[in-house]
Amino acid sequence: MTTSWLVTGARGLLGQDMLAELAADPDAIVTGLSRDQLDITDPTAAFRAVTGHDVIVNCAAWTDVDGAERSEAAATAVNGTGVRHLAHACAESGAVLLHISTDYVFPGDARRPYAEDASTGPVNAYGRSKLAGERAVVELLPCTGYIVRTAWLYGAHGPNFVATMLELAARRETIDVVADQHGQPTWSRALARQLAALGRAALTGRAPAGIYHGTSAGHTTWCGLAREIFRLSGLDSERIRPVRSDKFPRPAPRPAFGVLGHGTWVRAGLAPLPTWDDQLTAALKTPPFADLAATARRTESD
Ligand SMILES: NC(=O)c1ccc[n+]([C@@H]2O[C@H](COP(=O)([O-])OP(=O)(O)OC[C@H]3O[C@@H](n4cnc5c(N)ncnc54)[C@H](OP(=O)(O)O)[C@@H]3O)[C@@H](O)[C@H]2O)c1
Repeated sequence: MTTSWLVTGARGLLGQDMLAELAADPDAIVTGLSRDQLDITDPTAAFRAVTGHDVIVNCAAWTDVDGAERSEAAATAVNGTGVRHLAHACAESGAVLLHISTDYVFPGDARRPYAEDASTGPVNAYGRSKLAGERAVVELLPCTGYIVRTAWLYGAHGPNFVATMLELAARRETIDVVADQHGQPTWSRALARQLAALGRAALTGRAPAGIYHGTSAGHTTWCGLAREIFRLSGLDSERIRPVRSDKFPRPAPRPAFGVLGHGTWVRAGLAPLPTWDDQLTAALKTPPFADLAATARRTESD
């Protein structure tokens, strides 16, 4: 059966992998709209864009975490009100909405993984804006709204930590990396595959609406991630030096513990994402990471 998909925010890091993932599905008709083609803060445009599609994957978002601290209303206009427009349009048209959210809806003071129904409590403006979007989906789409919280995304199509570490490896002797924030590094290509599977399961009634955690299994720190990037790339991981977050003060506070549980996938009969180190191993064999690693190796051996 042919399914019509719409991907919003289609030029972003996740949006581009989502389009590539769906392009490989012979049963999918896919439309990708970038911000200049669909601004989700425009309710009329959102309604027009959603109409006629079976599944909407909302990858559009205000993702500048520090910028949101200075411009919370503007961030909320996209991450809260814009999502409400999409949810409203989906409610009218009957489309399924897969909406991407974040671990930043949680306060980060836990010691064990946050379950999907754990109490939220964002510590920064970005987290509050994303929580507003989640609430719109829950309210307007109780049976057809899917919230997929992700975290620590890296991928081929945008600035990200993995690429930054490999670029720095070619330029600096040592790199100081924060060792007191815990999270689940997640490859955007793997998440895109997971979202496609969720959309198909939603359409066939196999996966109930609600909250899913689209993060890798296992967890590490930024420092642990940097060291594993180096190790897997054949670089000396001792060049990564652990530091505390207060060495790099930022406008927006970061939750210290963004580790999420994956119970909903299992209950829906779907496999959760693989472990973060398995995903990283696979990602480092693909562009642009493989080339960046090769350059860093050449520099290290010089
Ligand atoms: N990256 C992470 O580590 C991370 C972590 C947790 C959750 N997430 C969530 O994952 C999702 C995808 O993030 P990403 O990393 O792919 O972010 P991204 O690369 O910044 O992509 C977001 C896209 O949304 C577009 N956009 C911004 N405002 C818009 C609007 N008003 N209407 C339509 N499009 C708009 C942006 O366009 P412009 O570039 O033209 O502004 C951009 O192409 C987001 O929901 C984000 O909150 C990401």
